[in-house]
Amino acid sequence: MTAQLDAPDLQRALALATVIDTRLYIGGRYVAPARSETIEVLDPATASVIATVSAATAPDIDAAVHAAREAFRGPWSRLTPSARATLLRRLADRLEAAAEDFALVESLDNGKPLALARGDIAASIEVFRYYAGWADKIDGRSVTPSTMTGWQGYTRKKPIGVVGQIIPWNFPLNMASWKLAPALATGNTVVLKPSELTPLTALMLAGLVDECGFPPGVVNIVPGYGAGAGAALAQHPGVDKIAFTGSVETGRSIGHAAVDSMKRVSLELGGKSPTIVLPDADVESAIAGVCHAIFTNQGEVCTAGSRAFVHEKLYDRVLAGIIARIESITVGGGLAPGTEMGPLISAAQRDKVDGFVERARTGGATVYSGATPSDSAGFFYPPTVVADVARTSEIATQEVFGPVLVVHRYTDADDVAAWANDSEFGLAAGIFGRDISAIMTLADRLDAGSVWVNGYHGVDPTMPFGGFKSSGWGRELGPDALDLYTETTAVNVCLG
Ligand code: NAI
Ligand code: MG
Repeated sequence: MTAQLDAPDLQRALALATVIDTRLYIGGRYVAPARSETIEVLDPATASVIATVSAATAPDIDAAVHAAREAFRGPWSRLTPSARATLLRRLADRLEAAAEDFALVESLDNGKPLALARGDIAASIEVFRYYAGWADKIDGRSVTPSTMTGWQGYTRKKPIGVVGQIIPWNFPLNMASWKLAPALATGNTVVLKPSELTPLTALMLAGLVDECGFPPGVVNIVPGYGAGAGAALAQHPGVDKIAFTGSVETGRSIGHAAVDSMKRVSLELGGKSPTIVLPDADVESAIAGVCHAIFTNQGEVCTAGSRAFVHEKLYDRVLAGIIARIESITVGGGLAPGTEMGPLISAAQRDKVDGFVERARTGGATVYSGATPSDSAGFFYPPTVVADVARTSEIATQEVFGPVLVVHRYTDADDVAAWANDSEFGLAAGIFGRDISAIMTLADRLDAGSVWVNGYHGVDPTMPFGGFKSSGWGRELGPDALDLYTETTAVNVCLG
């Protein structure tokens, strides 16, 4: 079940990885990094190096921010909204033409199954198209004052300026599209730092940006490490707004850095999202839904449904069904035929996940696991189910970010919402059941940015995405994201 060297998709992906321009993309040019630091990019299915990429450090971030500022002051602000929309549509079209290459490289770099990577690229294309449609619809309001006689008001929406964007490794190109598309549609310029673990598709995207004819400096793409490049971007006084997706810990440090220079901030952080099986749920579809919620993308998803609450009436059947399912999931390289779940992103992530599970086991939990390839140096971790754990235990409350599901038994439907909400997070939730009144009542009571009913992980460009509590600040996607990238001026005119 390990990645086979004779697999044609793997061969093609490895070849594509060798022809990517691995320098920094700053001011419309590929440039060597100031300090000649590099990143070794790994295939997580084999732990072997697939590319060596330039790593940006503070002087490169400074150069990128200056390029973005020049572009914001100059050519980009002179372009009409219609021209911005045309460029975004062109980028979507080029991405569509190269979609299979992007999917192959994404799967190789991240480890996710190729089918999932194809879905990520297709979704990214749609995000660029969706925000291209918004570029010429960023309107203010005409306001009739309620108390100021003789005045008239109107509001104007303006770009914020230079935006720093720091993205993670679990959905690399997809997260780049969520960040870039609304920022560019609203007239900002961008410095985007991909994760050091998965920089390849962002560099490929830089190539498309270049071909499309964006003015130089509108989009700068600078792979680098968090402590060097990421922190430099978050602290840079020339950055007007910072947008981040990743861990709560890093999000907090970015928030602190942003306050010092009063940057605008949006954060999309972690989760410990519940999936709730109501007593009248269809058992088979609930089992499939709960498994999809946690095991998709190896569980490395901020919205992963990592806590299942199953009504006592169905608990034994649902747990048995989930265990049967994890035993049948094929774990392998993302580009190996038949793979349903790939490796985790890194040895560190695998060890972190394993630490959570082993501490739970030592604490008395019952642990069920599927299989992983036995003869591999890759960062594989089996699909895992943990039962019989206390409500306040570490594994029941902290984000694991891997294919690990905690299953709880509940008796009282009224109590389950309070239990599900008893978390520092509030990113997503799933409900499986039939009684529409019960479902809608529960959906209303959950502290979650997204609620999915009889399904999970449905993400559409039109629907806002983000979290309550420690899951973040702000909402991406939908019209909501336009607010993340605009300032409002209220103009008050005294008519005399
Ligand atoms: P991370 O939050 O440290 O990394 C995400 C991004 O932030 C990367 O681009 C990284 O280079 C950058 N970064 C790291 N330190 C930074 C700093 N001091 N200043 C500015 N940028 C910085 O996440 P990491 O270490 O890869 O994963 C750790 C945990 O974070 C995971 O186990 C998971 O719980 C969570 N996570 C959540 C994600 C989500 O989608 N919400 C995505 C990735 C990780
Ligand atoms: Mg990689």
